[in-house]
Amino acid sequence: MAQREIKTYGNEVLKKKAQPVTEFNEELKKLVDDMLETLYAHKGAGLAANQIGIPKRVVVVDTSSKEEGSRLYILINPEIIEKSKETIIVEEGCLSFPELYEQIERAAKVRVRAQDMNAKQIEFEAEGLLARACQHEIDHINGVLFIERMSPVRRMLHSKKLRELKKQNKSKK
Ligand code: CO
Repeated sequence: MAQREIKTYGNEVLKKKAQPVTEFNEELKKLVDDMLETLYAHKGAGLAANQIGIPKRVVVVDTSSKEEGSRLYILINPEIIEKSKETIIVEEGCLSFPELYEQIERAAKVRVRAQDMNAKQIEFEAEGLLARACQHEIDHINGVLFIERMSPVRRMLHSKKLRELKKQNKSKK
């Protein structure tokens, strides 16, 4: 297992739609292991593979540090198949946007379909933080960032921070 560098805002990989996983092999296991190590090292609630630079449809979600009774979800090729009409607005952050938090409106409940590490289909209902994390991470693998879910006014309030993040990214290369 190895911790990987988290790609931050301004890195092109975050804007690309990730590719479906077709091979459920050792390489996938290693990717998931690395994602988990990276997630826990940063105390995040979720991580998508493209956040560590791998454009594949792999997501890990673990809200146990913030919510009781939750568990780890390893989701391969996940999709939201149902969304409640009811929405809730909660403050959200993203490991690819250090120190940026904003109120984001999302469906209160969702139904998620995915595959597990053995390619078996799984389906579950999610609410609370789990529903939010699943929506956030599935957005990631579709190349959608949480700032795109902000109202234009709220996003404008963060424009300085966003410019800084982009600049840091350029100097990294
Ligand atoms: Co994120």
